[in-house]
Amino acid sequence: MKILAIDDSRVNLLLMKGIIVHHLPDALLKTVRSGIEGLEIARSWHPDTILLDLQMPDMDGYETIRRLKNDPETSNIPVIMITATNVVSKDRVKGLEMGADAFLEKPISPHELVAHIKVMLRIKKAEDRQRYSQKLEAIGLLAGGVAHDFNNILTVITGYSTMLLMQAKPEEPQYESLQMIVDAANRATRLTQSLLTFSRKQEMTPLNDKLCTLVSHFEKFIKNIVGEKIKLNFLCDQYSKSVAIDLGMIEQMLMNLAINARDAMPEGGQLTISTTTENIDDEKARFLAVTPGTYMCITVIDTGCGISKELLPKIFDPFFTTKDVGKGSGLGLSVVYGIVEQHRGVINVDSTPGVGTVFTVYLPIDNAEQQDLDKR
Ligand SMILES: Nc1ncnc2c1ncn2[C@@H]1O[C@H](COP(=O)(O)OP(=O)(O)OP(=O)(O)O)[C@@H](O)[C@H]1O
Ligand SMILES: [Mg+2]
Repeated sequence: MKILAIDDSRVNLLLMKGIIVHHLPDALLKTVRSGIEGLEIARSWHPDTILLDLQMPDMDGYETIRRLKNDPETSNIPVIMITATNVVSKDRVKGLEMGADAFLEKPISPHELVAHIKVMLRIKKAEDRQRYSQKLEAIGLLAGGVAHDFNNILTVITGYSTMLLMQAKPEEPQYESLQMIVDAANRATRLTQSLLTFSRKQEMTPLNDKLCTLVSHFEKFIKNIVGEKIKLNFLCDQYSKSVAIDLGMIEQMLMNLAINARDAMPEGGQLTISTTTENIDDEKARFLAVTPGTYMCITVIDTGCGISKELLPKIFDPFFTTKDVGKGSGLGLSVVYGIVEQHRGVINVDSTPGVGTVFTVYLPIDNAEQQDLDKR
């Protein structure tokens, strides 16, 4: 969590620093003493929350917030305005109209400040999540449309080239060329299939069963993928409830996650795949943008290289890859995302560079009933 405090008074900044260090030890805090400096840091550092003093000599809080909210780079950062006790109602209204998300009066109560920061953070995370899913939705619509038409064209290319290849003899000069056309068409088909899965255009054949039973089918297969150097742990919740899942899709999802985990641990490590039942309370539901209730979870944990904070918001984008040219197409996690969405679930990722990554897939247990309704 990154917090930027903008206040011309050194004493106030020290006070805020003391409160934050004590109550939010994981937070990173930057302090600046003018609005101009604050704008610069906000643009380059992208804090999660800004604490902004109203009365400052060179550029006051109103002007600072006006500029923050007019700049697309900083407009989505929540701002808590810190005001003097004598600030009247119309000044607060002015601040709110200019985009302040909350007000705090001096002298600041530590508990109130911490509570406000936590609320701002929750709002920002929920908004970021929503923006991201809207972005993927839009890309999915475009990619799905193109992939659908492409798939029809590829059916013709694959069909006729395979037929010609079957008629040709290996010693004939065109045999090798035909083989290359068939191989390329098959690669293109796999790519379009991935895009169709990402955009949820793939037909689903749901099966109602306990997640642990279904997932445990894949243990051997995952073992083959990750190889000898990686220790694989499968932890299954025997008391899990039934969910409706498409076996082929869940297999594909686990395979993509396991391949990524393997690639993140070239020197070996541990891969833990577990299924659990989780009750999502109101607070967590807000964070995940789901309705509160009971969910079945599949968690995939590796002890690999991890993903940096800068790259994390991009990993589900189609064609985003950090792998060498020809090694990764950047569609693995897009496919995972599409599969989770199609199961009416959500996926969350937590990663610490140098320590490892945790992917958690939440599937609502009532999707079993919903899928039955959809089939009718
Ligand atoms: N478990 C992980 N640990 C570290 N980085 C990961 C992990 N999973 C994904 N990533 C990062 O996310 C990127 C995107 O992953 P994704 O599976 O979509 O594509 P890819 O693995 O690069 O290629 P493809 O899966 O299409 O072969 C990866 O290139 C990698 O940088
Ligand atoms: Mg991958």
